Amino acid sequence: MERTLVIVKPDGIKRGLIGEVISRYERKGLKIVECRMIEADKATLEKHYIEHREKPFYEELVSYMMGGSIMVMIVEGNNAIKLVRNINGKTNPVDAEPGTIRGDFANTMTENIVHASDSVEAAEREISIWF
Ligand code: TYD
Ligand code: MG
Repeated sequence: MERTLVIVKPDGIKRGLIGEVISRYERKGLKIVECRMIEADKATLEKHYIEHREKPFYEELVSYMMGGSIMVMIVEGNNAIKLVRNINGKTNPVDAEPGTIRGDFANTMTENIVHASDSVEAAEREISIWF
């Protein structure tokens, strides 16, 4: 059993895609075991995105994540980390396959609907930041 940290990003909330996102995880047999709607503060986002702090897109990413409410959740199940990443699709909307969340709904690199942890270590770290 694994747990992973998922965020429905501000564009996902604004476009009314919370149900769409959650139903895709649930249909795959994963469970939402914690869920909270919040407005993220800068310090928490900086912790969350620490691996990207030197990247050129960092400032834009953090300010976009503060542009509206987000939904943070813990998703649990067998292979939850990899399965959720597969369901979300690739980061670049040009590469995200149709049938994935980003493939179906995202058209820019920044505004890509969802975040999910990419490893066991990242999941533990990110869950401890938000929950
Ligand atoms: P990353 O962790 O590489 O992607 P993922 O969300 O698929 O794990 O990057 C974090 C977020 O930063 C990504 O969801 C969108 C944004 N981003 C950009 O805006 N430009 C970029 O070139 C990259 C790589 C990411
Ligand atoms: Mg990432």
